[in-house]
Amino acid sequence: MSKNSLIYSNIFFYRSVMNILYKGNYRRRFDGIFKLISGKSVTELCFGDTLVADYCKQHKIDWKGIDSNETFISRANKKGYKTELNDINALIYFPKADTCIISGSLYHFHKNIENLFSKLLECAPVIIISEPISNLSNHKGIIGKTAAISATVNGQKQNFRFTKESLLETLSNLSAKLNFNFKVVEQFEKDWIILINR
Ligand SMILES: C[S@@+](CC[C@H](N)C(=O)[O-])C[C@H]1O[C@@H](n2cnc3c(N)ncnc32)[C@H](O)[C@@H]1O
Repeated sequence: MSKNSLIYSNIFFYRSVMNILYKGNYRRRFDGIFKLISGKSVTELCFGDTLVADYCKQHKIDWKGIDSNETFISRANKKGYKTELNDINALIYFPKADTCIISGSLYHFHKNIENLFSKLLECAPVIIISEPISNLSNHKGIIGKTAAISATVNGQKQNFRFTKESLLETLSNLSAKLNFNFKVVEQFEKDWIILINR
């Protein structure tokens, strides 16, 4: 049996589910990220899709992606992108870049968040985080039902999601402890887009 849930088994299925959750705006949610990319190299953690990679290629920015899902890695490799198949919890450091991006994935690491942030801060001077701040499985109708398909990654169910309050509290605590500034730049649909400079 696959260690990942069905939504991670195929990019077309993944995009269809995401399009339901983002009310047809799945691709547009990356625009807020693109605007904040700085410099000539990007490390993207938990990239899943290759929309950031495509943007970087178009703009002659060197991109490297890390993900633990073999299907996403092999699809990106086929498109000629530099990738690493790895569990980012297991890495001691991430490849250095001008910008580090993690989108739609912070909730996977809520139990080990300080360790993740230490590595993000070592990775790049600019960090972009895009993160859902509501759990759509509480919503009614198709959106709630779709979100309730519980995501399973590496054999573990991922039910935790941040709220505005818990994400703000987490970022405030980490910024005091690890000495960085952060700004919530915008909200797009259910996501906050956050910029960190160190
Ligand atoms: C919800 S998807 C987000 C994908 C994409 N960044 C986006 O914004 O649509 C979460 C991604 O994180 C990856 N992932 C989850 N846990 C991981 C881990 N420990 N190490 C590396 N990748 C992980 C999954 O394989 C998946 O591609």
